[in-house]
Amino acid sequence: MNMSRPTTTDKTRVWILGGTGAVGRQVLRRLPQQRVVEVITVSRGAPAKAAWPRHVQMDLSQPDVTLPLHRGDRVINLTQRTPPSLVYETIRRGAVFVDSSASPTYVQALRRAAVEAAGPGYLLDCAGVAPGLTNMMACRVVERHPKTRRTEIAVELGLSKHAGLAATEWFLRNLGTSYDATINGAARNLRPGELQSRFPFHDGAPARLALGFPFVEQSVLAQKFPGPSTTVLSYLALDPPWATAAVARLLRWGAGGVLSRNADRAARWLLRLPAFGPASTRVVVRGFDREERKTGELRFVTGDQTSATAAVIAATALAAPVLAATSGPVLTAADVLTLDEAVAAIRAVQPEARLEGGTGAEPALGKPEKEVAG
Ligand SMILES: NC(=O)c1ccc[n+]([C@@H]2O[C@H](COP(=O)([O-])OP(=O)(O)OC[C@H]3O[C@@H](n4cnc5c(N)ncnc54)[C@H](OP(=O)(O)O)[C@@H]3O)[C@@H](O)[C@H]2O)c1
Repeated sequence: MNMSRPTTTDKTRVWILGGTGAVGRQVLRRLPQQRVVEVITVSRGAPAKAAWPRHVQMDLSQPDVTLPLHRGDRVINLTQRTPPSLVYETIRRGAVFVDSSASPTYVQALRRAAVEAAGPGYLLDCAGVAPGLTNMMACRVVERHPKTRRTEIAVELGLSKHAGLAATEWFLRNLGTSYDATINGAARNLRPGELQSRFPFHDGAPARLALGFPFVEQSVLAQKFPGPSTTVLSYLALDPPWATAAVARLLRWGAGGVLSRNADRAARWLLRLPAFGPASTRVVVRGFDREERKTGELRFVTGDQTSATAAVIAATALAAPVLAATSGPVLTAADVLTLDEAVAAIRAVQPEARLEGGTGAEPALGKPEKEVAG
């Protein structure tokens, strides 16, 4: 792929769609002043703080929504209300649309719009931790262990801090959504929790239950990895583990559909309850060969998921090159940011972040750059 990466002196205009939300506010803080010309946030409401960069009040769910974009702008999308038509417009204007969604159907709709637009800009999806860092870890396991035929990605979320409304709604909505996965070359339609496995999220502790869940990595990485029998499966666990067991029980009782249909109201109700559990985010990626022997395993552990996600999104947006004509209209974060760069971006805000699993040199501790007010 013919791409030139931006240097630290290149400056860009960054739009944050959903910039007043939990992740958006943190992304704003992670964009160093020396790298951005201007930051513009977009949402239906007004920012709560008086000291805020430029803000546009707009309902992005409108079908005719449009923004005054310029070539080279980065548009970070943090709301699944944004229609694919805005991806089309962004790309036609030569800008880069950076998406963080984990929902397979939404990402596939954005990808179709990107292919239809056919440049000169592009869609850069899977920015964040899951998807995002997870893809980079999976790519490294497969690169280092080329015999890998099945890759399993498991994320454990500590419940000490509430996620934002959109992220909570995403979780609930997906409890009732079946999803496609390719298993040994055959397409399978799965329900959340239908697949279950145990993962070593915690050093020296027994492996913990995780539930098969519709993360977009399953389709994106299955396309990316060569070989017809490539299987990529994603799992979700909650910490404390009794919360995972409770979700598994609800799914067994058939409550997934009800929770999914009422995701909006249920999410608002959940966010009013007190948070509990540790503030940790853990990822385990492991590979298996054709004979079901383990080829490799990588583990990542850090603190609060929202700020880790924001750190990777900001780093991805700033690493995104202005595309050369030979490149395709769809890239993922793993195409522009290395695993070590993503871990360094997280370490700049969470120095305790650790990547384990014999993957070579650990990245140097990053120092936070000067931040945009927000
Ligand atoms: N890749 C990852 O690791 C990862 C992890 C977590 C989250 N995420 C992504 O981050 C997104 C945001 O999560 P969050 O926790 O920050 O949610 P949040 O706190 O609910 O923020 C959502 C933002 O979107 C805005 N919004 C919602 N509907 C809108 C509309 N129709 N028009 C314009 N703006 C609208 C909201 O403001 P108003 O209500 O004022 O409009 C708010 O600013 C999620 O949807 C998910 O895709 C990715």
